[in-house]
Amino acid sequence: MLGYRHAFHAGNHADILKHLVLFLCLRYMTGKPKPLLYLDTHAGAGAYRLSEGYASQTREWETGLGRLSDRVSGLSVPASVDEYLRFTADFGRDHPGEFPGSPALASGLLRPVDRLLLRELHPADLEELDSRFALDPRAQVRKEDGFAAMKACLPPPSRRGLVILDPPYEIASEYDRVVAALADALVRFETGTYLVWYPLLERPEARALPSRLTGLTGRPRLMVELRVRRSIPGERGMSGSGMVVVNPPWTLESTLRSALPFLSAALGQDESASWRLEHQ
Ligand SMILES: C[S@@+](CC[C@H](N)C(=O)[O-])C[C@H]1O[C@@H](n2cnc3c(N)ncnc32)[C@H](O)[C@@H]1O
Repeated sequence: MLGYRHAFHAGNHADILKHLVLFLCLRYMTGKPKPLLYLDTHAGAGAYRLSEGYASQTREWETGLGRLSDRVSGLSVPASVDEYLRFTADFGRDHPGEFPGSPALASGLLRPVDRLLLRELHPADLEELDSRFALDPRAQVRKEDGFAAMKACLPPPSRRGLVILDPPYEIASEYDRVVAALADALVRFETGTYLVWYPLLERPEARALPSRLTGLTGRPRLMVELRVRRSIPGERGMSGSGMVVVNPPWTLESTLRSALPFLSAALGQDESASWRLEHQ
């Protein structure tokens, strides 16, 4: 499990979908005065240098941020994607060469009244995360299992919270753990906003995950998927990714509906590129 390093994948098409959804949710939720708790159960290092180290070995960012930065000629960029890209570019100016991971993105949008609880198990990523947030009084970084943190931290005192679950899914049991953690969290904090990322993979447990997650509650939920290429039977790699959002901001569906055709055209690698958006 601790072989996974997000730096190999930073800025790829899956990060773009995940971070755009996170960006839109947090921007909406921080528009209301009440304090917000942000819990990042699988936080990673916080931000990544795309031109160095692991990211420069795989260059996966070329499937995501790289394609968007080129703005794919002939396509007009939807306002939401443009705002996310501006945020990313501004971050890269303030922190030269860095791409914001979910903690850095959240940190840039959250206010002084809000809190960030960041959980990570890998020692190297944890160390980076810790030093990045050492001077931020809003943040608490801990080496703790992210699923256990959900039990410990929910519900938040303010009764307003966003939880993002972004496990590596390197071991089959993580699929069950995500479902169990969300089920438990919904009992203790039914009105929280939950964002669960998942890969599009040719594995039965990956294919079953979205409906297992949406079947946990009758609360409003959104399922969004971005397929960037055809899936090949027997392959290990992902052909796209998706997110289930429980209790989404009411604006999220329409904003994503106008962004997804662009993302599919800009990030698609073959004729199987497509998107799905379902509200339940
Ligand atoms: C996909 S990466 C996170 C990326 C990050 N959310 C972002 O968008 O920038 C998943 C992270 O979870 C960490 N991890 C794996 N199992 C964990 C667990 N049970 N609890 C907390 N962190 C875990 C890994 O070390 C890895 O850094």
